[in-house]
Amino acid sequence: TMGGYPDFMAKEIAEQPEAIERLLKDRLGPDGVRLDELAMTDEEIAAIDRIFIVACGTSYHVGLIARPLIEEWARIPVAVEPASEFNYEDVLVTDHTLCIIITQSGETADTLASARKMHAAGAKVLAVTNVIGSSAAREADGVLYVQAGPEVSVASTKAYTAQMVAAELIALFLAQRNGNLGAREVARRFHELQRVPAMIREVLHRSWQDEAAARAFVESSSALFLGRGLNATTAAEGALKLKEISYLHAEAYPAGEMKHGPIALIDPGFPVVVICPDDRVRYKTLSNIQEVKARGATVVTVATDGDQKTAQLSDYLLLVPAAPEYLVPIVAVVHLQMLARYVALARGCDIDKPRNLAKSVTVE
Ligand code: M6R
Repeated sequence: TMGGYPDFMAKEIAEQPEAIERLLKDRLGPDGVRLDELAMTDEEIAAIDRIFIVACGTSYHVGLIARPLIEEWARIPVAVEPASEFNYEDVLVTDHTLCIIITQSGETADTLASARKMHAAGAKVLAVTNVIGSSAAREADGVLYVQAGPEVSVASTKAYTAQMVAAELIALFLAQRNGNLGAREVARRFHELQRVPAMIREVLHRSWQDEAAARAFVESSSALFLGRGLNATTAAEGALKLKEISYLHAEAYPAGEMKHGPIALIDPGFPVVVICPDDRVRYKTLSNIQEVKARGATVVTVATDGDQKTAQLSDYLLLVPAAPEYLVPIVAVVHLQMLARYVALARGCDIDKPRNLAKSVTVE
């Protein structure tokens, strides 16, 4: 049941801190991150030549977040593909290739077909899923359950953030097992991850910021989402949420690519959401805010607490607590989930059952 919430999406957004706490519970042992369910020996991990992450929709976005982290921490090359593309490609697979499928429902037909294709080619398949005993769980060689609890709303929220945490655990696990990160560094990052639930609770208390910012979208027919690095993906996820439940056209772009085309869209009042946390590319993203501002855009910015400069340039601010770069996508997206929901409410849309969509897509 909805337990006093107006819709399942509201409930599931609110459940994110507990979901992540559950996932992190008892995951740090004396030897580092414990992921026994992945069932891989140190020899197998050391021999991995490449990882394919295959998924659809929001779960695909989790893969995009995971890629640079696995590459940076575990130094293993990673390719991320939407399953519906991957299945028709001639991919390079060896016995040492690892395939990670990410699927909340565990029933997405394209993703399951990818797992079969990889198995047939000799790769090992790991599934990250939320549903116990799902097809993905049964077909994979190892399963990491994200334990987010049932997700009813078609728009995925708590599964997205929990899957990102799961992906970061996998990245830490691989890095520790193949010797690229020492036990102390793994433990330090794990303890940082444990701060995420509190940071999300803080963002949940700021839902009034999203409710206010929703006004910028209600009368418009289109919106642009911009971000850099990991938050180019946060932008993509924000745009997907908005499209899915408010039926507003939304497009995401890596912020620096904007001047290569989409900036032509900007006219006075055009809503632009910019993910601009305090990270190593902040000053570059700030210049993108100035560019769209100069053309009259209404700017909604996700920024870090205390960032005066960004505040001055923004029409609406969605503030997040200061956090290491690899945690920002998990925290920042919560604002974009709430923003999409408020826009959809204002436009009178069905929050949990948007038109034309089903919770899991069981046809290829
Ligand atoms: O169950 P899955 O994670 O395999 O589902 C994949 C997509 O269909 C799903 O994430 C979809 O994009 C969501 N409705 C987005 O909110």
